[in-house]
Amino acid sequence: VSDTGKIWPPKQEAIEAAARALSEGLLVGFPTETVYGLGADARDDAAVAKVFEAKQRPKINPLIVHVRTLECAQEHVQLSAAAIKVAEAFWPGPLTIVANRKSECSISLLASAGLDTLAVRAPRNKIAQSLLTAFDGPVAAPSANPSGTVSATTAIHVAAGLSAEVAYILDGGPSEVGIESTVLSMVDDIPSILRSGAVARADLEKILGKISDAPHPSGAIRSPGQLASHYAPILPVRLNATSADKTEALLAFGPKPIEGAASTLNLSVSGDLSEAAANLFAHLRALDRAQYNGIAVMPIPNRGIGDAINDRLSRAAAPRPI
Ligand code: TXA
Ligand code: MG
Repeated sequence: VSDTGKIWPPKQEAIEAAARALSEGLLVGFPTETVYGLGADARDDAAVAKVFEAKQRPKINPLIVHVRTLECAQEHVQLSAAAIKVAEAFWPGPLTIVANRKSECSISLLASAGLDTLAVRAPRNKIAQSLLTAFDGPVAAPSANPSGTVSATTAIHVAAGLSAEVAYILDGGPSEVGIESTVLSMVDDIPSILRSGAVARADLEKILGKISDAPHPSGAIRSPGQLASHYAPILPVRLNATSADKTEALLAFGPKPIEGAASTLNLSVSGDLSEAAANLFAHLRALDRAQYNGIAVMPIPNRGIGDAINDRLSRAAAPRPI
């Protein structure tokens, strides 16, 4: 049972109170079009440190800084002509751009986790935009869930994992997209996708041309979010299921769900991938109950946002750290 007493409808007074809390170095849960974020003043080292503690996030995993506009982002990072072009095409929206920090960048170095780069994004969600306007500064915000667990797509999900850590949770209803932003590195000459997400590769390539998949020359993990086990429910997850037994919960997709599971939730009966993305994390949470032995997942086509859905599911199914 979680404490929902910190959840507020997104009226202007609540948004202003949340903005004041940010100014005081406190944490705020807020909706974006992708998933809910756990926000902190990105210029305040102590506040950013609180985000890592609250989520129990490894300190090597940098945060995304949320800004109102492209111009705001350019106060902090050096954007190439191509980066500006892609930002103009997709901002405000579910695209995160990684670029080199400017020397005068005022963002806490902790947010970059020791890298010379910074991830920035201008969200399109109205409540997120109002919060950024009321706060009038950059907000560092990872997804509002304990590190490694299923992301939050409702205010109740935020409260379930982090109610003790936040001053306010702004309730924007279920997330519109339901899956995180695409993380695009524009650091090198050839752009690369560090995390698949809400903006499909093909749509980025229409603007940027070929996007690289090549491993980084240094061999280092380019984006710690690429680590194997992530987005994980407590139950084991079994992918590409073509049958299910009566001890399992089934995450189905499409008009012909397989039979035999103890319980079934369908990501999209009509086979719509956007609807499936919006339902993904809430359905995983709902099926994650001790009465089942595991969650079986039907195959999801790899086109469009299906690519990001399969990325999240394969990490949910990966062997867990002990
Ligand atoms: O949709 C989203 O992106 C949500 C909402 C709240 O905006 N945020 C989110 O944050 O998913 P988080 O912290 O869960 O994921 C951030 C991802 C991680 O994979 C992280 O490693 C990567 O972005 N990242 C952040 N800064 C980076 C940097 N400087 N270089 C490479 N990867 C970076
Ligand atoms: Mg996350």
